[in-house]
Amino acid sequence: MKQAHKHSRRSFIKISAVLTSLAAIPSSVKAFYQDVKKFFVVPKQTMPLAIIINKKTYKTTADTRTTLLDLLRENLQLTGTKKGCDHGQCGACTVHLNGERVLSCLTLAATVPGKEVTTIEGLAHNEQLHPMQQAFIECDGFQCGYCTPGQIMSAVACVNEGRTKSVSEIKEFMSGNLCRCGAYNGIVESIQKVAAS
Ligand code: FES
Ligand code: FES
Repeated sequence: MKQAHKHSRRSFIKISAVLTSLAAIPSSVKAFYQDVKKFFVVPKQTMPLAIIINKKTYKTTADTRTTLLDLLRENLQLTGTKKGCDHGQCGACTVHLNGERVLSCLTLAATVPGKEVTTIEGLAHNEQLHPMQQAFIECDGFQCGYCTPGQIMSAVACVNEGRTKSVSEIKEFMSGNLCRCGAYNGIVESIQKVAAS
């Protein structure tokens, strides 16, 4: 009985020591994290922006790290431009910057003032669809439609760039735009139709 009492006292001391050291860990980890944060985390900064989109000037304020895609969708409610991967891999966010196609998820909004942005909302003239929009309808260039704004913006650029000499050239220069519905044949046909007109 005496031995059991001695054993349990020793166990108690051991357990107490372990618990004390465990309790010390969170505060030291927290302090370490705060130190690291001071060095590596850039404080939030906002900046005023005046951007021409679809020939209209928008004035807004945004975090300096905001992408053009988030600015369009979240700040300006221009939700025609889609967010797919947000990592430059799917092409759903394609817009034109000074007439050239760019991935808006990889473009900082802070770099855009002074340039002209065109989104899918700016392609049609009043009620008249852009020829590429019309061709996508006539050639079944889409199914669910999620990738379609990006496909159309790339397709317009593809024609403007003169990259339509063959099916393989069109496929090569449209390869940055993925379509999970597999509407590729209709997309190529749409581009051929507009290029031939
Ligand atoms: S959302 Fe920009 S490339 Fe996918
Ligand atoms: S039409 Fe559905 S992802 Fe392209």
